[in-house]
Amino acid sequence: MNPFTLNYHSEYFCDRENEVKVLKENALNGLNTLVHSPRRLGKSAIIHHLFYQLEKENKFETLYIDLFASQNLNDFAQIFGENLLNRYHKKNLVSGIKKLFKGLYASISFSADGSPMLNLGIGEGQMETSLNQLFNYLENRKKPVIVAFDEFQEIASYPEKAEAVIRTITQRLNNVHFIYSGSSFHILQHMFYSAKQAFYQSSESLIVGKISEEKYREFIRANFEKFKKRISDDAIDHLLTFTDRYTYYTQVICNQAFYKTNKGLELDEAILLTSNYMETRKADYSGILRLLSDNQQKVIIAIAKDGEVSKPTAVDFLMRNKLPSGSSTLQALNALLEKEMIYKSENGYVVYDVFFRRFLDRYY
Ligand SMILES: Nc1ncnc2c1ncn2[C@@H]1O[C@H](COP(=O)(O)OP(=O)(O)O)[C@@H](O)[C@H]1O
Ligand SMILES: [Mg+2]
Repeated sequence: MNPFTLNYHSEYFCDRENEVKVLKENALNGLNTLVHSPRRLGKSAIIHHLFYQLEKENKFETLYIDLFASQNLNDFAQIFGENLLNRYHKKNLVSGIKKLFKGLYASISFSADGSPMLNLGIGEGQMETSLNQLFNYLENRKKPVIVAFDEFQEIASYPEKAEAVIRTITQRLNNVHFIYSGSSFHILQHMFYSAKQAFYQSSESLIVGKISEEKYREFIRANFEKFKKRISDDAIDHLLTFTDRYTYYTQVICNQAFYKTNKGLELDEAILLTSNYMETRKADYSGILRLLSDNQQKVIIAIAKDGEVSKPTAVDFLMRNKLPSGSSTLQALNALLEKEMIYKSENGYVVYDVFFRRFLDRYY
């Protein structure tokens, strides 16, 4: 067993006490919450951890719905419906379908791995009624229900006026409250903070940041010790600096560090480990870099070398990195933002993927 998992595990979960507390308080007070942060910091894991606790405490029923692969309202209804079937009617899918999709065309088929797939044929005029039916099912549960819609920004790109439809239906529910989660800050900002949008002022907001250095340090040390291994403070320092303390990258590197360590890990071994790891990723990352235009390559390398760049069109930054004119650099920057290769943090532009940042810094 490796304690540094990439799938949520309640026993090997680091901190996030405040975030879970806020979400729990909002749930108890009947408030909805918007959870956002850059990708891979741990939003989904926080929701899983919250739901694990809520289910254990027996006060709420919970439903986690990942909208990542959804492209329209029919997909939404289908994913939502599948989750309801799985949660409440796993033992008898056929009778479940009858209860949930009364009066609609719905059937079940099984995918190659044996998991049930719902086939829904909802006519255009039937969509609101059908969704109402699904949400009403939850409204009528005895216990209050918390529904998390993860990757919620997807609904902004549905061809239908999905936000208005979903907001209208969910607004009148008393027994169901929501967590909306996502990474695309500018889309979510538009959805939740512009006065004209359906979700305006519908939710509290929780911004997820990095796990504190102190907590992550302790978590790493404790999990090595739990399995009778040691890791020195310097080694932990090195790993956390290497990953910039981003959750996903820290978990990946600690996973490696853990299984490559027999008894103890010292600083020089930790340095060797991160450097060997970058070696294994070299081919992938070179491939990604080659897909970018010349200017985009220059700009992303320059940003990686500086770590964080607040004024990418400032003369000294352009000169120092031999970048093209301000306008060409800006154009490349915008293309990189669009591709989500870089993002704008509070302190400036950074390369989104921390390992890619290290790769560029090291080999260019
Ligand atoms: N508090 C935590 N402790 C341990 N691992 C975590 C924690 N938070 C997230 N992870 C792991 O880090 C990775 C990224 O987290 P995830 O929740 O998917 O991020 P996000 O939803 O923000 O993109 C996942 O592999 C997840 O299991
Ligand atoms: Mg997620």
